[in-house]
Order: sequence, then structure tokens, then C-alpha cells
Amino acid sequence: LVASMEQVEETYIMVKPDGVQRGLVGEIISRFEKKGFKLTGLKLFQCPKELAEEHYKDLKAKSFFPKLIEYITSGPVVCMAWEGVGVVLSARKLIGSTDPLQADPGTIRGDLAVQTGRNVIHGSDSPENGKREIALWFKEGEPCQWTPAQAPWLR
Ligand code: PPS
Repeated sequence: LVASMEQVEETYIMVKPDGVQRGLVGEIISRFEKKGFKLTGLKLFQCPKELAEEHYKDLKAKSFFPKLIEYITSGPVVCMAWEGVGVVLSARKLIGSTDPLQADPGTIRGDLAVQTGRNVIHGSDSPENGKREIALWFKEGEPCQWTPAQAPWLR
């Protein structure tokens, strides 16, 4: 249990088209930075229909699937990879419940969203899906592993 609590993981986080168009990208990135996670991938990207369908393939049978694909492809999204101890679950907590009406104040959806069909942000639901989604949305070599420099930047 202790080992799993110390597990460094990666998660795929995406600001959806409504979040980009409402100018929430900076605020959302800031919340993950302030929490203490490490940004390892970032891009603005117009998602093709095929990629959206692949990403959400487990939801194909749902009645809302066509609307979901239309929403995600309606404008550019911001794709991010974040790394850290327990980052998958922690990011889901920062994001809040799928339905913004159920999301607690203080969470991204609780503070910034109103409806499920425009809930601003996506976060992977497991470490396995984190890996799968990062591989799906980023090209090989796009995400960067990095460590802070030892020398002080300000003095
Ligand atoms: S389910 O039905 O329990 O599998 O769905 P859930 O886990 O709650 O949500 C899976 C993703 O589908 C999105 N979703 C919707 N989009 C548009 N309209 C409706 N009604 C709707 N219901 C669920 C939900 O936001 C999840 O996407 P992500 O990108 O992970 O937030």
C-alpha cells in the first residue's frame, strides 16, 4: 500500500474546446502546477473525429456518444501530460465530479463548469489509461522528461 502511494504516475489531462474558448487554459494549468505536479507534455490541437472516437471508444454504445464526439472536435483542445506521485487520482480530485452540478466547490468543474456536456476538462481514470491516452494524443518524442536545473535562476 505504501509503495502504491509513492508510485510516480502519468496522467492525460485535456482542456476541452469550451475551456479553451472561455480562456480557462491558464487557470487550469496553474492549478496543476500549484498542486505540485510536473508538466511533461503540452500542445494546442484540433482533434480529428477518428481520434476522438478512439479516445472515447468504450462509450460507443452510449446515447450521448455522437454529441460527445461533436463537442470534443468542435474546436482546439489543450493536450497535457502530467507526472507525479498518485497523479491520476489526485488529478481526478482536482477536476471534480463528471457532472459539474455534483462537483464540489474548489474543484475545477465545481468552480468553472455548469453542465456535463460542457465540463471543461478530461482526466484519465487509471494509470493504464493515462499511458494509453498519452500515447494516443502525443507523437513519440513530444512529451519531455526533465529535472529542474541545480543552478538558481534568480539571485
Ligand atoms: S459513464 O456513462 O459512467 O461511462 O460515463 P462517465 O464515466 O460519467 O463519463 C464518461 C465520459 O463521457 C462524458 N459524458 C458526457 N458527455 C456529453 N454528454 C453527456 N450526457 C455525457 N455523459 C458523460 C463524460 O464527461 C466523460 O468524459 P471525460 O472526458 O472523461 O470527462
